[in-house]
Amino acid sequence: MQNGTNAARMPMSPLRMLILVLIVVFTAEAGVMLLLPWILPETVDERARAVADSFLLTAISAPILWYVIVGPMRRWEREAIRAESLATVAQLATGVAHEVRNPLTSIKLLVQNQLQTARVPTLCEDLKVIEEEIRRMESTLNSFLDFARPTPPQRKPLELSGVVDRTLALLDGRIGKQNVRVQFETPVEPLQVHADAEQLRQVLLNLSLNAIEMMPRGGTLDIHIQRCHDHHVCLEVADTGPGIAKENMSKMFQPFFTTRETGVGLGLVISRRIAQDHGGDLLFKNRPEGGACFTLRLPLLD
Ligand SMILES: Nc1ncnc2c1ncn2[C@@H]1O[C@H](COP(=O)(O)OP(=O)(O)OP(=O)(O)O)[C@@H](O)[C@H]1O
Ligand SMILES: [Mg+2]
Repeated sequence: MQNGTNAARMPMSPLRMLILVLIVVFTAEAGVMLLLPWILPETVDERARAVADSFLLTAISAPILWYVIVGPMRRWEREAIRAESLATVAQLATGVAHEVRNPLTSIKLLVQNQLQTARVPTLCEDLKVIEEEIRRMESTLNSFLDFARPTPPQRKPLELSGVVDRTLALLDGRIGKQNVRVQFETPVEPLQVHADAEQLRQVLLNLSLNAIEMMPRGGTLDIHIQRCHDHHVCLEVADTGPGIAKENMSKMFQPFFTTRETGVGLGLVISRRIAQDHGGDLLFKNRPEGGACFTLRLPLLD
């Protein structure tokens, strides 16, 4: 399973390790040879000199080798074991999620049919609640499956502002209901990227929904597209909510980290992975004037 962070990678190749060992031992031995005449009196015999030499060589090279080779290798080994067990759990969970999704769709269809024919008001109310809960379960399962089994992007040249327009149209109802003001100006120059429109829409939807969730009593959703350095385009989604708490800064891209009661904690992880699959990145910061700002950075198409 891919989870947005890179799988444990071996810190160095065996050849690099061998070269490093040779360099460390050679340098340490040269140092000891130069040092010995200074620290041992002339009278010390050859055998004692050899023992002192071996002792110093071990005392110098062992900690260095531990620090540059053994330490990182042990960390890598631990990460590899953790990644392997995570992959097994994820495989199992993905299978379960997939199995649950199909019967859930059937149940939803049955409930929807009943909703059309039911005449008793209390039954209608109950059916609506059941339908809403099924939708929530479906959305959680879909996020989980997106996270566990990412699809490679189907990339085409596209204009970023078109993606923003279509996403905002999807959010129209939600934006109006929550008294959120949207600020988005189409950039003057055409800024094209080579990307999967559906996946970019998903990223923008995740970021905008997060921003809206953080402004329950209204505010401004500010979307801005501009050319940034290194031939990239930056799409910023900013809000006037409370911003990201200091203690949560390091957890923002951790799978299943959420502070929302109904959140799954996968929106940002999936969004960052999509950005990285497109050769870009997803960054965030708090704005000095208040609120959070997420920046989707993508390579510009020539
Ligand atoms: N605009 C924002 N302002 C402040 N905090 C934010 C913002 N966006 C995300 N966060 C924090 O990051 C957490 C993780 O966001 P993420 O989108 O990954 O998951 P979620 O919204 O909780 O659930 P879901 O998987 O349903 O999207 C949120 O729960 C919230 O604490
Ligand atoms: Mg979210």
